[in-house]
Amino acid sequence: MTETEKWEQGCRTDRVRNEFIIPTLYNQLEQFKPQEILDIGSGTAYIARAIDEMLSYNPHWTIIDTSQERIDFSISKMTSKIDALIQKNSYEEVSKSGTKFDAIFLLFTLLEMEFDEKICKKLNESLNDNGFTYIVMPNSLEDVFNAAQDDYDILFNYLNNDCQLHKIDKFTKEPYPFNAHRFEYIIQCMLKSGHKLIHMQNEKFNNKETYLLVFQKVKS
Ligand SMILES: C[S@@+](CC[C@H](N)C(=O)[O-])C[C@H]1O[C@@H](n2cnc3c(N)ncnc32)[C@H](O)[C@@H]1O
Repeated sequence: MTETEKWEQGCRTDRVRNEFIIPTLYNQLEQFKPQEILDIGSGTAYIARAIDEMLSYNPHWTIIDTSQERIDFSISKMTSKIDALIQKNSYEEVSKSGTKFDAIFLLFTLLEMEFDEKICKKLNESLNDNGFTYIVMPNSLEDVFNAAQDDYDILFNYLNNDCQLHKIDKFTKEPYPFNAHRFEYIIQCMLKSGHKLIHMQNEKFNNKETYLLVFQKVKS
């Protein structure tokens, strides 16, 4: 089984995605009906496909990922119902195009991305007025504490918003560089760059907490 197939299989049995993220985002989309949706770091597009199948309307999805293998897999799984532009790109490249979206997904992607005010400004510029950004992240505090038992500096890195942990990915079992971003920092950067926080929700599965943060662009 390839790394990408392992990822897809992990998603299928993942309670966080199937019982929390997918139903909650589905409800959000049905409520606000964003037409242009950008999924940054879509992986195998498992979440986008699952939501799209349930929606009562047909949005246009733009799905980007830096992994060619995951992009090829996503293309092979697309059904005719999904109207999507799928591309191997980093968000940093796509954001230069100036295309605007009504909703942006960053679902666990910040685990692999740098996060600062600069990237939040780009997100803001990529949104239409009143557009939404949905950020999903696990609470990494427990992982930070565990790692800090061997290396005390990790705690200071975490507090200074520059903390990378070396973990094993729970789906692929491959080593995984995991950016432990503090929620306080994520919220602060988003608020400073022209968003308001309109919703925050968390769920616990197997004693692990996952947060969904919903931001809305303040009209420019
Ligand atoms: C943790 S996975 C999450 C995948 C998917 N969002 C999900 O929840 O199933 C993060 C994904 O982001 C992609 N990625 C990492 N950095 C990226 C970047 N700068 N721009 C776009 N995608 C990126 C990775 O290749 C990976 O597929």
